[in-house]
Amino acid sequence: MTEGSRIPGFYRLTIAERRSLVAERSGVPLEELEAALRRGGLDAEKADKVVENVLGTYALPFGVALNVRVNARDHLVPMVVEEPSVIAAASNAARMIRASGGFTAEVSEALMTAQVQIVSVPHPAEAVAHLVNATPKLLELARAAVPNLLARGGGPREIEVRDLGSGMIVLHVYVDCRDAMGANLVNAIAEAIGPSAAELARGVLGLRILSNLCDRRRVRVRCRVHPRDLALAAKERAHEAPPPSTEPASQPARSAPSEPPAAPADGWVDGRVVADRIVLASRFAELDPYRAATHNKGVMNGVDAVVLASGNDFRAVEAGAHAYAARSGRYSPLVVWRRDGDDLTGELEMPLALGTVGGTLRVHPVAQVALRLMRISSADELSMIAASVGMASNLAALRALATEGIQRGHMSLHARSVAVAAGALGGEVERVALVIAEERSITVESATRVLALLRTSR
Ligand code: MEV
Repeated sequence: MTEGSRIPGFYRLTIAERRSLVAERSGVPLEELEAALRRGGLDAEKADKVVENVLGTYALPFGVALNVRVNARDHLVPMVVEEPSVIAAASNAARMIRASGGFTAEVSEALMTAQVQIVSVPHPAEAVAHLVNATPKLLELARAAVPNLLARGGGPREIEVRDLGSGMIVLHVYVDCRDAMGANLVNAIAEAIGPSAAELARGVLGLRILSNLCDRRRVRVRCRVHPRDLALAAKERAHEAPPPSTEPASQPARSAPSEPPAAPADGWVDGRVVADRIVLASRFAELDPYRAATHNKGVMNGVDAVVLASGNDFRAVEAGAHAYAARSGRYSPLVVWRRDGDDLTGELEMPLALGTVGGTLRVHPVAQVALRLMRISSADELSMIAASVGMASNLAALRALATEGIQRGHMSLHARSVAVAAGALGGEVERVALVIAEERSITVESATRVLALLRTSR
């Protein structure tokens, strides 16, 4: 088996060739990969067992990000996303990062949080003391609710009690869910200990549910990019288009990040200038929640695509990410970029509750195969990979925004979907897309006209 996630020219291959290569690299037999991907993996009968009122299924593109190296291991990373350029951009940025060693990632203690609300508490300070003193009993009750989790080495670890004021108390149980996302486990624990907790507090039992702000299950990713790779990548955007004909400008003196770096005269931007502009883009997001929201949307482009491909709950991940981004009272970026010497360095921190067992994984063959393609054996590894792809997506977006703008790359890829919508097939897609992109008229009408011309000129 040829290992690694670096496959130059992958995008030029046919779908069948890509599948063969990915099967070879991942060790997943080709027949199994193809069987899983047939009809998007889920037929209506199976879907009918998953949710209610089913009429059919709804397919989305399933691709792989390349060049992703996390903690010195290469991974092909499945992504499910409908937005053009997300997979290509993440792969390009991952290549720049890989050249300086790849992503360094770690997961915190990996505890999920169960919440029990108790209301109408007559003496909150006393109630808090009673609950804290009853920690061993409450943990015992919690353990009894999840025998299978205990058998897997997980279980409730800690109890915390907070007085929210107005006679309301909340009790948290922190639970190690091992390789499960853990929503059902945590909810079972909250429901099991709720009545006893309310009795101890002499209050009335309220909600019993997990918190999606799983700030004790965080992932942290760091990376470094050499300016040479930022600049080279600039040339290779838009599917490795030929570099500009002019020579790169001579290396300018390092400008302070607070001064706007010089504008590119000819489309080529020196890597150190790109790095400074990315730092300024990061500062923008740190200072302005309006920008931070879009900055984080770029991060979630990558994270969500991996979360979806692996059969995990992207709504839970989104809720946690944005609540964490606002933890200081000001909505902030999940990834921050700085200069370290000539290099650009990035740091991401976010909560991420992902599972490699249970949930959708039980029923969805594509999600099952997605985990095998990544060649991982734990939920922690999945979180580190998803967060790394999020960081790559953010870097790709900032690099594009800081240089030529986002529209050119987006539009050339958007043109392909428009060409397909106009009925272009096979090699026609690229040819029609190229013409309508050059004409700057990316509409189905233009694509239909160009396609008709192409077909009559044969
Ligand atoms: C588009 O899907 C994501 C971006 O808007 C992110 C960003 O602005 O950083 C390009």
